[in-house]
Amino acid sequence: MQSTSKRISFALIGFGRFGKHHANILNHHPNVTVDAICETDPVALQQAKNEFPDANIYKEPFNMLQEIDVEAVTVVSPEDTHAEIVLAALNSGLHVFCEKPLATKLSDARNLAKIAPERELKLRVGYILRYEPRHRVLKQQIVAGKLGAIGKIRAKRDISRSWFEAYGHRVHSAYETLIHDVDLVLWLSQQRCKSVSAWGGYLLGYDVPETLVMVLEMESGTICVLESSWLVPRGAPANIFGWEDSSDSGKGVVEASLEVIGTKGSSYLKTYEPSLLINDDTGSYCPDLAFWPQIEGRTVGALREEIWDFVQELLGENHAKVDSLEDAVHVQEICEAAIESEKSGKKINII
Ligand SMILES: NC(=O)c1ccc[n+]([C@@H]2O[C@H](COP(=O)([O-])OP(=O)(O)OC[C@H]3O[C@@H](n4cnc5c(N)ncnc54)[C@H](O)[C@@H]3O)[C@@H](O)[C@H]2O)c1
Repeated sequence: MQSTSKRISFALIGFGRFGKHHANILNHHPNVTVDAICETDPVALQQAKNEFPDANIYKEPFNMLQEIDVEAVTVVSPEDTHAEIVLAALNSGLHVFCEKPLATKLSDARNLAKIAPERELKLRVGYILRYEPRHRVLKQQIVAGKLGAIGKIRAKRDISRSWFEAYGHRVHSAYETLIHDVDLVLWLSQQRCKSVSAWGGYLLGYDVPETLVMVLEMESGTICVLESSWLVPRGAPANIFGWEDSSDSGKGVVEASLEVIGTKGSSYLKTYEPSLLINDDTGSYCPDLAFWPQIEGRTVGALREEIWDFVQELLGENHAKVDSLEDAVHVQEICEAAIESEKSGKKINII
């Protein structure tokens, strides 16, 4: 598929649930080599050694970043480790693909977004929905004026309760789930956000809310309602697999949708289509075919589009140009305001 013979050497930080998909996708790119992997957990580290026998394996990211001779790194470690690792990677002169969130503090995100262009390094944040075909077609329709001026965007993202208990509670759900939808409304509406009001629900008794609702007022008048709840029961038909946790085989559900209504038209997007239904002795399930399905040992779908698009840019080839570091920082500003609003009960004005 690539005409160029140039190769990009990558390091990967965090060989966990999602990092394994990143590694698989990079490894199948004809112009990429995965030359180094960092993983702190001994079991995952051994898996990395087994699956990537030619890569250098490290137990700690900061020494690795000083020692290795690679061009780019993908950061897929837990959310609260990103800012420090991305800073170290930029300081080592590496291009960075960072999974969401870029940081868990706005000041860190601003600093990283300032440093990367100063050093002429690419820095992308993993907003996968921008690379998914239905979202891209919808974006084209909006840009072409088919929906007119957008009055309201409503986005829902409900997730399995068992996943909240396994890992979802490790960071505020603004950063874990609704961050994707915040990014979507910036991309689709092409507006800055004026104010944020948010409400949290704490029925499961964790320090962070399992239920979060945000209302964003955008500068040209669009109102956005974003809702997320990690309360989907085990009996719901699974659509994501392999998200292992101690109490479950890793099956679970992301139940998400997006509605846009404007002065000329409206749209409805069911994010995880139940178009393939499989029934067996364990029940019914509808495997995801859009985001990171596994086909014959390869991870494909929007995640591959997204990561390969980053590689295209590093190779100096045509790429989608749908990423925006400016939006990524504004996303962080909105999430931080949502957390402040959810805790204080007040509307937070941003501009
Ligand atoms: N874009 C998406 O749709 C999407 C989907 C899933 C996960 N994610 C993001 O991907 C990231 C990883 O999520 P996950 O579910 O794979 O988490 P995970 O816990 O399964 O994996 C993280 C891995 O990083 C390792 N690790 C921890 N600290 C480290 C450090 N300092 N250096 C190196 N490795 C370290 C852990 O041992 C673990 O194996 C998170 O930021 C998450 O929000 C994004």
